[in-house]
Amino acid sequence: MRWFGFRPSTLVTMCGIVGYVGPNADAKAIDVVMEGLARLEYRGYDSAGVALVADGAIASEKRAGKLVNLRSAIEAHPLPDSSTAIGHTRWATHGGPTDANAHPHRGGEDGKLALVHNGIIENFHALKKGLIAEGVEFRSETDTEVVAHLLAKAYAAQGDLTAAMQTVVADLEGAFTLLAVHADQAGTVVGARRNSPLVVGLGEGENFLGSDVAAFIGYTRQALELAQDQIVTITPESVTVMNFDGTPAEGKHYEVTWDAAAAEKGGYATFMEKEINEQPHAVADTLLGRTDEDGRLVLDEMDITEEEFRAIDKIVIVACGTASYAGFVAKYAVEHWTRIPVAVELAHEFRYSDPVVDDKTLVVSISQSGETMDTLMAVKHAKELGARTLSICNTHGSTIPRESDAVLYTHAGPEIAVASTKAFLAQITACYILGLYLAQLRGGTYAEDAQAVMKELSEVPAKLEELLGSMKRVKEIARFMADTRSVLFLGRNVGYPVAMEGALKLKELAYIHAEGFAAGELKHGPIALIDAGQPVFIVVPGPDTPHGLHDKVVSNIQEIRARGARTLVIAEEGDDKVEPFADEVIRIPHTSPLLAPLLAVVPLQVFALHLSTAKGLDVDQPRNLAKSVTVE
Ligand code: G6P
Repeated sequence: MRWFGFRPSTLVTMCGIVGYVGPNADAKAIDVVMEGLARLEYRGYDSAGVALVADGAIASEKRAGKLVNLRSAIEAHPLPDSSTAIGHTRWATHGGPTDANAHPHRGGEDGKLALVHNGIIENFHALKKGLIAEGVEFRSETDTEVVAHLLAKAYAAQGDLTAAMQTVVADLEGAFTLLAVHADQAGTVVGARRNSPLVVGLGEGENFLGSDVAAFIGYTRQALELAQDQIVTITPESVTVMNFDGTPAEGKHYEVTWDAAAAEKGGYATFMEKEINEQPHAVADTLLGRTDEDGRLVLDEMDITEEEFRAIDKIVIVACGTASYAGFVAKYAVEHWTRIPVAVELAHEFRYSDPVVDDKTLVVSISQSGETMDTLMAVKHAKELGARTLSICNTHGSTIPRESDAVLYTHAGPEIAVASTKAFLAQITACYILGLYLAQLRGGTYAEDAQAVMKELSEVPAKLEELLGSMKRVKEIARFMADTRSVLFLGRNVGYPVAMEGALKLKELAYIHAEGFAAGELKHGPIALIDAGQPVFIVVPGPDTPHGLHDKVVSNIQEIRARGARTLVIAEEGDDKVEPFADEVIRIPHTSPLLAPLLAVVPLQVFALHLSTAKGLDVDQPRNLAKSVTVE
C-alpha cells in the first residue's frame, strides 16, 4: 500500500523524538532530552526512553508507561555524563507498550548503535526475515529494531553514521523519522525523514532535532525545516542536510514565534483543531502495512483462524459514542462486501440484553481508548456467550484489545481532545480493512474488488487535505450561528450515521440541541420540528449512489425548504442538482459512495469546533465529559 502521491504537510501523529549534541565539556544532554520529551509527551505516552553516547559506549534507559517512570528509573540509576543523546516517547504501532518494545532500540551484537523512530516501516516483515536468516537475534517485536540492526550492519561496513543512514533508508518503505547515534561517533546525531516530521533546532555550539519545535523551544527559536526524503547530520558546530540520493540540500531557516503551549498544538489554537487537521494522516497511517507481498490484506494480532473467520455468519459491532457511529457506517460497507449480516449495538445496551450470539458470531468492539468500561463489559459478555471477539482500537496494550481474540489497531496517534475526530476516521478505515479482509477470505463477488477499494481508500488522505483547505465558509457559517439553539442533521445510508455524528459533535462541543435523522424518516415525525429558519444540515450522497438515493435526498431537501428550513447542504463537487434548494452548499471531493463518510463528516466537525469557539467554550475539554469513561 502506497500513499499514491499523498505528500502530507501536517504532522504525523505518533511518537515524539528528540536529539541533542552539545560541547564536549557539557553534560547537559540528558536534561535537554528529558525536557524535550516532557514537551512532546502529548504525541505518545505509553513508554519512553533515552540513549547517550559516553566513553565509547551507549548508555540507555527505557521504561513502559508515562515519562515519569523513565525519570524515576534514571534517578535511581543515573546515566553517565554525555553531550550526545536521543530520546523517544512512544505511541505503539508494532508491538505492545513494554520495556522491551520501548525505544531506543540497539543494533549490532555489540549494541553500539541506538535508534529512535516515529512512524511505520511497512516492509519490516520482509527485512526482518532476511536479518533472522543472517542470525540476528531480536529483542523486541517492533518494526524499529529491524532498522537498528540494518544501520549497525551498514555502519560496520562504512564506518560513518550518515553514510550508513543513506544506505539503509534506500531499503525502507513506509513513513518514518529516524534518529541514530553510534558509540564510536560521539558528538553526532543523524536523522532521516520520509512522510513523518523532523525539525532542526539551531543553537550556539549545540544543535537539536525534534518531531516538532516543542522539543527544543526552551533552548532556541532558530529552526531549520527539512523537506521529505532528507538526511540531516548534527554536530555541536554543524548541520548538514542531504537528500536520500546523497545530493546536498539545504533546510529552510525560520524563527519560531510560538510559545511552548502553542508548539505542542502544532500552532493550532486547540488540540481538537490540530486533530481535525491530522485526519489525512490518521487514515493514511491506518492503511499502512496492510498488504503482504502478494497484495493480500493482513491484520495485526489474530488469534482467530482463517477457518473460524470463514465460518462467521453474523457480526455484531459494539461501541459507544463516536465509535458506535463509525460502526454504523461500517455496517453498510461490510454487509455489502461480505454478505454477512452486521448489527450495531451500543455497548451498554448489548451488555444488558440477551443477544443471539454464538461461536459463529464475530463481535467487533470499536474504541479509541480501549478502556471504555461499557465497551469492555460488552466484550466480556460476548466472550461468555461464546462469540469470537475482535477489537478495533487506537491504544496499544489497553484493556479491550487485551481481552479480545484479535486486534486491528487504528494508527490515529494519541487523541487528546475529548470530542473524537481523527479516531472516527481511523475507525471507519479499520472497519473497512476488516470488511475487505473478510470479503477476500470468503471469496465471492467482492473478493476481487478488495484491492481496488484499498487503492481508493489510499486516495482519501489527499482528498481530505484538499477538503481541509476549503473550510473558510464553514467557519463563517459557524460564527454567524453562535446564537442558534437547535440544529438538525439528515442523511441516508452511510450518510445517516454521519448526520448522527455531526449532531453529537455539536452537542458535545457547543451544548446546542442537535439531532441526526435518517432523511427518509423525516416524514414519519421529525418534519414537525421544521419551522421558519430552522437550520438543517443535509449530507447528500453522490449522484452516482445506487438506487437513486441522491434524488431522494434532493427531494427531502425540497420538503424541508418548503417548510421554512435553512438548508446547509453537504454535496459532492459538481453536483448541481442541489443548488436550487440550498441556502449554503458545502462541497466535498468526489469519492465512491461507501467512502464518502470519511469526507462528509469533516465540515460537520469544523462547524462544531468553530461554533463552540464563537461561544467562547472550552473546545478540548467540554463540560461534564471525559475522554475515557471507565465506569459503567
Ligand atoms: C466518551 C467520549 C466520546 C467517545 C466515547 C467512546 O464518551 O466522550 O468522544 O466517542 O467515550 O470512547 P472510546 O475510547 O471507547 O472510543
